[in-house]
Amino acid sequence: MEDTLTKTNTITQEIIAGMKNTPKQLPSKYFYDEKGSQLFDEITELEEYYPTRTERMILEYYLDEMAEKLGDNIELIEPGSGSSEKTRILLDKMDSIRCYVPIDISGDYLFKVADQLQKEYPNIDIEPLEADYTRPFELPNTHPNARRIVFFPGSTIGNFKLNTVQRFFSVIADIVGKQGGVLIGVDLKKDINILEAAYNDSKGITAAFNKNMLVHLNRKIDANFDPDLFEHKALWVEEKGCIEMRLYATKSHSVQINGQVFQIEEGEYLHTENSHKYTQEEFSGIVAPWFEVEQVWTDKNELFSVQYLVPRV
Ligand code: AVJ
Repeated sequence: MEDTLTKTNTITQEIIAGMKNTPKQLPSKYFYDEKGSQLFDEITELEEYYPTRTERMILEYYLDEMAEKLGDNIELIEPGSGSSEKTRILLDKMDSIRCYVPIDISGDYLFKVADQLQKEYPNIDIEPLEADYTRPFELPNTHPNARRIVFFPGSTIGNFKLNTVQRFFSVIADIVGKQGGVLIGVDLKKDINILEAAYNDSKGITAAFNKNMLVHLNRKIDANFDPDLFEHKALWVEEKGCIEMRLYATKSHSVQINGQVFQIEEGEYLHTENSHKYTQEEFSGIVAPWFEVEQVWTDKNELFSVQYLVPRV
């Protein structure tokens, strides 16, 4: 276990390294302090932000088909489970689920959610695991005969750069073994106007979410970002196939991080997030070394997809 001090230093080093990049870069995982998680919840309710409600609709509409694909005697594993809200759709209706393993990096919240779930689903064995799922991890072996299904909703996969995506699928392939599978939410390429609107909402919630990362970092490490000196903008970057979230400096100023001074020019931006969108061909290609796409469920406008992947034999 890392102690708090080592952790703080590691984060400081990570942020400093990002600030030395051109363009300056801050990791998107730092969006999610308590305020950031609350703002993200608000984002999911916005008219312009189609992913959450579309995925939920797909899950609800095709639940029986999914249950059939997933099969019997399931141990459901969810990396980055958070509030487990979407998972309830599965837990409510799929009586093939014997065991649910929510995995999260922040234990306090994870164990609280798990206790609540155990009360609500007495027939499912709830086994929370505090871990960083982007690195190899060990699962409890309490249901040795169950088939392991990884559930990864929300298009979180879209935040990963290509080598992280590849590492993720190789870790997951080891976890589920030859008998298992993966149920994953993947956001699809579409009209740029729809994409850009989803990340530049008219109420300014996404702007607040983006700037909150600076407030979070000021508290977490020795830094003095001034969120009022930045303007939010998200834009589609065709070459990368992703929406980039950016914070543009409205005037030249400097920021101090752990005693180091970083000059930021007017009009310069901090890059805070990539949100990749895929065509079906692109996504199938990425998972191909480990998995075959067995089934794709989508909405009628093909905005979003839920996909069932099976290991290649
Ligand atoms: C939680 C990563 C799926 O990329 O759409 C929402 C995060 N960023 N608005 C996404 C996010 C800005 C979201 N994911």
